[in-house]
Amino acid sequence: SASPQISRLLIDWYDANARSLPWRNPPGAPLPRDPDWPYRVWLSEVMLQQTTVAAVIPYFAAFTERWPSIADLAAAREDEVMAAWAGLGYYSRARNLVKCAREVAALGGFPRTEAELRKLPGIGAYSAASIAAIAFGERAVVVDANVERVVARLFAITEPLPGARKAIRKAAEAITPTQRAGDFAQAMMDLGAQTCTARRPRCLLCPLSDHCEGRASGDPEKLPVKPPR
Ligand code: ADE
Repeated sequence: SASPQISRLLIDWYDANARSLPWRNPPGAPLPRDPDWPYRVWLSEVMLQQTTVAAVIPYFAAFTERWPSIADLAAAREDEVMAAWAGLGYYSRARNLVKCAREVAALGGFPRTEAELRKLPGIGAYSAASIAAIAFGERAVVVDANVERVVARLFAITEPLPGARKAIRKAAEAITPTQRAGDFAQAMMDLGAQTCTARRPRCLLCPLSDHCEGRASGDPEKLPVKPPR
């Protein structure tokens, strides 16, 4: 099967090209045992839900400076957290952030599985998968809009969204490795954000171009196909 090949090529690319971001572990490094590690992954994923990496960076720095651990955030007043969140938008995220911090502090730490993470306030299917993979190395299938685009192109999935999501998820599942699931997820995100971009994919820079059915088809930029209107 081509899947071990695809994940290997992507991981090798990530080792050389990962964006260095303040919430990231260096590529290939063992996952930190420190309880603040899942806290930082969770905080970054909540902030990144509807906000760009560039906008999140200063807020992530301010939050982790002021509330270095989940216990610190759990003890904060909601209005202080809301004030610190000002400018990031989607304020229900900040209210859920405080609720979630209090539940996690009461549990004595973050749950490690996707199913348990999913039960927490503000943690949907995407965030549960990304935290399970990135914080704990669980083999979760992480599909955001960037990953959706990479996978639709790689396998030339031509069905329009949203119907294509089922096939995209299945294909993403098939290429997700058991080792380094968090690095794999973030490699897919980086590839989608920087190389397999929506309008003008940079196929010459892509580690997967020889395996990409969308590229072979001649117009990868047309994938994924938008919903009919
Ligand atoms: N978007 C959501 N999560 C991300 C992450 N861990 N790295 C980069 N972009 C992201």
